[in-house]
Formats: sequence, structure tokens, C-alpha cells
Amino acid sequence: MGLRDDVAKVLISEETLRARVAELGQAINATYTDADCPFLVCVLKGAFMFLADLTRNLEMRHEVDFMEISSYGTGTMSSGVVRILLDLEQNIEGRHVLIVEDIIDTGRTLDYITRNLQTRNPASLRVCTLLSKPSRREIDVPLDFVGFEVPDEFVVGYGLDFAEEYRNLPFIGVLKEEVYADSE
Ligand code: IMP
Ligand code: MG
Repeated sequence: MGLRDDVAKVLISEETLRARVAELGQAINATYTDADCPFLVCVLKGAFMFLADLTRNLEMRHEVDFMEISSYGTGTMSSGVVRILLDLEQNIEGRHVLIVEDIIDTGRTLDYITRNLQTRNPASLRVCTLLSKPSRREIDVPLDFVGFEVPDEFVVGYGLDFAEEYRNLPFIGVLKEEVYADSE
């Protein structure tokens, strides 16, 4: 009956996530200084949990802000439509911007975000994503920090949803076939 009964397999465990997020934090610590005061752009909703853990591994001064982009319907297929649902509160002109994403699939969402943020004249623009599905890429988007490369399977947990649910699972997993099929 529970959420966990819908999980077919765990792809990345809680422990593995914690260790890798700490490593990403170290890599980011080695990239920016206090003087850079990087501006982290968390792409909602999927990246909220990753951002929360990542930011606690950062040692330099930094700020966080949020942006929400809609590119998907409620299922597992892209609607092809990308639009801004929530924009940043702050001005990023002259700032060292680090986009924090949950997963790069086709690359369309990130391509849209980077083009959009680039027009606001940041001092630099980098990307940190927890997951990447290279086999699905349609647009080649440069990634600076990548947690894990995952196979072409629809994953949930640690912030990532299926039809807005399963974000609270503390691991990255794949759901049973019937769960995805039921909603189509
Ligand atoms: P893209 O534009 O195809 O790269 O898709 C990016 C967005 O689609 C991500 O930020 C996620 O919100 C969503 N997405 C893509 N693949 C998955 C997945 O396997 N699980 C959950 N969300 C996904
Ligand atoms: Mg996302």
C-alpha cells in the first residue's frame, strides 16, 4: 500500500547520494572563493532536496534563489513546452551563477534556462546537476558538475517526482511498470 511498494529497484542509495553530494560540494568549494560569492539558482521543484544538502557542504559565502520551469506534463513524456512559472527574485548581473538541477534528460530545459540567464549578463554561468541521462540528450549542454550518469529509465526520489509524488523517497529509484502504466 505504501509509497515504497511502488518501487521496483533502488538505483542510488541514500548513503551513496550523501557521499557524492559531499564530493560535489568539495569540487564547488575548489571552484569559487568568498569574493566570488556564487549565486546558486535552484531549479524547482526537482532540485530542492539536492540544493538543501549541497549548500550545507559549501564553505564559501554564497546566496540561493529559486526558479521554476515547466517542461513536462504529469507523466514521463515531455510536453515540449518550456516556460517560466517562477522567476528569480534577485538580479544576477555581474554575479557568478551556478545552476543547480536535478536531472538533465533531453537538455531542452537547461538549454532554455542557460540562454535566458545569459541575457541577464552574469559574470560566469556554470551548471551542477545531480543526475544526467546522456543517452537521451537532444541538445548538447555543457555540464560543469555531475553527480551520477543514469540509464534511460524514469527515476524518482530525492526530489524527483512522478506525477508530483515520490519526491520524499530518500534514494533514487525506479517504479514498477504498472505504476507508470496506470497513469497513461
Ligand atoms: P529535459 O528538458 O528533457 O532535459 O528534462 C529536464 C526535466 O525533466 C528535469 O529537470 C526533470 O524535472 C524532468 N525529468 C527528466 N527525466 C526525469 C526522470 O527520470 N525522473 C523525473 N523527472 C525527470
Ligand atoms: Mg528539473
